[in-house]
Amino acid sequence: MKFGRGSRGTANGQPSESADVSRETWTPAAGTWKGDAVADTPIAAEAERATRLLHKRHGQLPRPDRQRVFTIANQKGGVGKTTTAVNVAAALALQGLQTLVIDLDPQGNASTALGIEHRQGTPSSYEVLIGEIPLETALQRSPHNERLYCVPATIDLAGAEIELVSMVAREGRLRSALAGLKEHSFDYVFIDCPPSLGLLTINALVAAPEVLIPIQCEYYALEGVGQLLRNIEMVKAHLNPELDVTTVVLTMYDGRTRLADQVAEDVRAHFGDKVLRTVIPRSVKVSEAPGYGMTILDYDPGSRGAMSYLDASREIAERGRNLGGPRS
Ligand SMILES: Nc1ncnc2c1ncn2[C@@H]1O[C@H](COP(=O)(O)OP(=O)(O)OP(=O)(O)O)[C@@H](O)[C@H]1O
Ligand SMILES: [Mg+2]
Repeated sequence: MKFGRGSRGTANGQPSESADVSRETWTPAAGTWKGDAVADTPIAAEAERATRLLHKRHGQLPRPDRQRVFTIANQKGGVGKTTTAVNVAAALALQGLQTLVIDLDPQGNASTALGIEHRQGTPSSYEVLIGEIPLETALQRSPHNERLYCVPATIDLAGAEIELVSMVAREGRLRSALAGLKEHSFDYVFIDCPPSLGLLTINALVAAPEVLIPIQCEYYALEGVGQLLRNIEMVKAHLNPELDVTTVVLTMYDGRTRLADQVAEDVRAHFGDKVLRTVIPRSVKVSEAPGYGMTILDYDPGSRGAMSYLDASREIAERGRNLGGPRS
């Protein structure tokens, strides 16, 4: 089924958030709503408010059988890699799981979004990769959730692509560092990659069994994905036989455009059930949150963006239930 401009339909059959993209007002400092959710009728508005309240009481998710490590990759820039990494991680932490985000992008966007110090000189993924410090030393806890941790990235990481070239076992350095992390038993680890297929992304692909590919519901969405999949196959063949694309997330979905539905259809046709049923809506609140050093779950916990990331995290947890052997 296709929806035209102005339709309330979405790719996953849920009501579109187009109506409330810019009209809700949440004041994080005050922790209150200024005005109500915008819905078409009073009953719809009431139902939406009830859903928001319901979603504020989060259940606990079961721990996975073994630690799950995801590389979040797509060499196309600005598709929602970082946003997905930090918000899915925050959603899992909120639901009781020990979660780590490793920022492997010299832009340091994941560190910023999590409110984590990443000025030059801060122990970071750079020192970890070049073997100066163990990963443990670079861990910082989120100011918003005691179960959410981050290894930040500083601008130093920009030089790592070149420095790594001459190093021994250059592709497996993050994997070794992660294996050396004994003190913390993280349930989930998310590695946020830069928009390139260089040595940083390869280190991430070698360190993780699972790849999560965010795909923006926009023009040329699948552009470059073929190249990414070929690289993943090469890493799998030569460096990490466990590697698999397990998850695809559709991001920045705008229910007002027919294009978004077409892209969603194409991606589902291509990746089948690897694509999460949950679609992340385009939402001003989601893009504002990093400016406050917050995830959407802290910035506006009742918003559709927050709910969609909560839903996505539950789907990810549910799908992983039977993966792998016993917890080590
Ligand atoms: N659901 C969303 N709604 C609105 N804006 C979004 C959404 N998701 C991400 N954005 C915004 O889009 C921009 C790109 O997102 P993000 O930084 O997550 O992409 P990225 O793939 O990590 O980019 P890069 O390739 O540069 O690392 C950011 O400004 C972000 O705030
Ligand atoms: Mg990014």
